[in-house]
Amino acid sequence: MAELEKTFAIIKPDAVRAGKAEEIMQLIELNGFTIIAKQKLQLTKMRAEEFYGEHKGKDFFPRLVAYMTSGPVWALVLAKPDAIKGWRALMGPTNVLKAREEQPKCLRALYGTDNTQNATHGSDAPGSAAREIKFFFPHLVPEPVTDPAVASQF
Ligand code: PPS
Repeated sequence: MAELEKTFAIIKPDAVRAGKAEEIMQLIELNGFTIIAKQKLQLTKMRAEEFYGEHKGKDFFPRLVAYMTSGPVWALVLAKPDAIKGWRALMGPTNVLKAREEQPKCLRALYGTDNTQNATHGSDAPGSAAREIKFFFPHLVPEPVTDPAVASQF
C-alpha cells in the first residue's frame, strides 16, 4: 500500500463564519483523508504574520493578515497517500473566481467568498507541510536525531 503523507490545512474565517467547517471536514474524510489532528483557534496578528512570513512585502500581505485574524479558523493535519497534492487539488485554484469557472466542485469554488477570502489553505510542498504542522501542532513532529552516535543506530 502507498505510504501515508501528512499535510497541513486551514479552514479559513469566511468558511467558519458561514458555519461550513463541519461540512468541509466531512468532505475531507469522504475524499479519503484522515484528520489526525484538529484545533479551532483565533490567530493573532503576530502569529498570522509569522505563518505567512514568506509573503511579507507583497501588496496583498496586510489584507491577508487582516482576513486571517478576522475570526476563528480550524487548523488540521490530514493524512493520505500523496496528501499534499491531493489536498491542493480538492481545494482548487487560489482565486475563488477562477475556481468557480474552472473547477466548480472544488472546495474554494463551493465555500470561498472572493479573491481574498478563499475558504481553505494547504501546504504546497513537504518542507512547508512539516513547518506548518510544527507551527500549530509542535508535539506531532518528532525532533530530528542530531547525535551521530544515536543516529547511526537507526
Ligand atoms: S504568490 O505570490 O503566488 O506566492 O501567492 P499565492 O501562492 O497565490 O498566495 C499566497 C497566499 O496569499 C493569499 N493571497 C491573497 N490574499 C489576499 N488578497 C490577495 N489578492 C491574495 N492573493 C493571494 C492566498 O490565498 C495564499 O494564502 P493561502 O492561505 O496559502 O492559501
